Amino acid sequence: MIRVGIVGFGYWGPNIVRCFSDLPGTKLTAVCDKSLDRLKQIKERYPVVQAFDDFDQLLAADLIDAVVIATPTASHFALAQKALERGLHVMVEKPLAETTEQCRDLIMLAEAKNRTLFVGHVFLHSSPVIKLREMVAEGELGRINYISSRRLNLGPVRRDVNALFDLATHDISMMLYLLGDRPIRVSCSGIDLLQPGNHDVCNLTMHFPENRMGMIHVSWIDPRKERVLTVVGDRKMAVYDDLEQEKIKIYDKGIVAPPATGDFADFQISYRYGGSYSPFINEREPLKAECADFIRCIADNKIPLTDGENGLAVVEVLEAANQSLREHGAPIAIDSERGANDATLLKRAR
Ligand SMILES: NC(=O)c1ccc[n+]([C@@H]2O[C@H](COP(=O)([O-])OP(=O)(O)OC[C@H]3O[C@@H](n4cnc5c(N)ncnc54)[C@H](O)[C@@H]3O)[C@@H](O)[C@H]2O)c1
Repeated sequence: MIRVGIVGFGYWGPNIVRCFSDLPGTKLTAVCDKSLDRLKQIKERYPVVQAFDDFDQLLAADLIDAVVIATPTASHFALAQKALERGLHVMVEKPLAETTEQCRDLIMLAEAKNRTLFVGHVFLHSSPVIKLREMVAEGELGRINYISSRRLNLGPVRRDVNALFDLATHDISMMLYLLGDRPIRVSCSGIDLLQPGNHDVCNLTMHFPENRMGMIHVSWIDPRKERVLTVVGDRKMAVYDDLEQEKIKIYDKGIVAPPATGDFADFQISYRYGGSYSPFINEREPLKAECADFIRCIADNKIPLTDGENGLAVVEVLEAANQSLREHGAPIAIDSERGANDATLLKRAR
């Protein structure tokens, strides 16, 4: 039985607490939140669980083998570091940390302590994304030329991170997973309307090897909620709309261009307008699947799909995109000096 504690019982933490409260092979033993108001709610809703208002006290109580960190991003590194140093397995909500340096420190610490470091890239545990990944791997969509996404809503507005860190993290993790690759160059522009220096609306472009692209539009000041990701392959195209009942729609459409001869008369493009269909998807709650995977990885001593390296790959993009934001959309190359880490990322995504 793996004893689990959760730190952070704000907006997202209660969902994680709910998932762990009846997860086989685990015992939810402690929840921690520094807000006394939230602490009162923990005690009311989970009277048998030990409640703490101080993370150090939770660690000192020696009640847990694993901890889930669901606090604001700025606190992820310090809390995860303390927990790993204490010898706990750690799951950190997305994004893993604020900087790539912090991510690398956590990865090294987890390795040194031989503990599982797991990142909450929840969409990599969702059935539609897994289905899309299978279709891409089986070549059903052909060569993937680009992926675009829109993640829009009116709120919730964050104070500790910009819309890129809060929202685009999800889309970046999905695009890296679906393409089995990481970008070589990114550029990002945006506007800060509500809090100076904290962008509310961002457009991120990622250039991948072999002339492929990812585009992400995020905003928390948009009138309508949208959660749409479009995968454009040269055989078929797929649209994943997370708000729809039938979440994935496959379009048998495409464009065929003849090989370039330099002769304008030879350039006859043909358009293919086939039908569309929604593949069957075995739906499950992504967060529950994520929590179960964390526990399975600990129990089986298995490297998670969403391990520290995966968290680092996403924060690399976020960090470069933030630099581009500050430089008004200037293209920022992503350091290619990752060697073995790259190979691991690709191997696992394929
Ligand atoms: N996967 C998803 O879809 C998803 C959705 C929402 C949020 N999140 C992530 O979850 C995390 C938390 O987001 P949220 O929306 O719940 O934030 P929130 O601000 O609503 O809640 C955070 C809670 O953590 C507590 N807290 C902060 N620092 C603490 C500390 N040092 N010790 C103990 N408690 C502390 C606060 O009192 C608060 O109750 C973030 O990393 C966010 O990115 C993920």
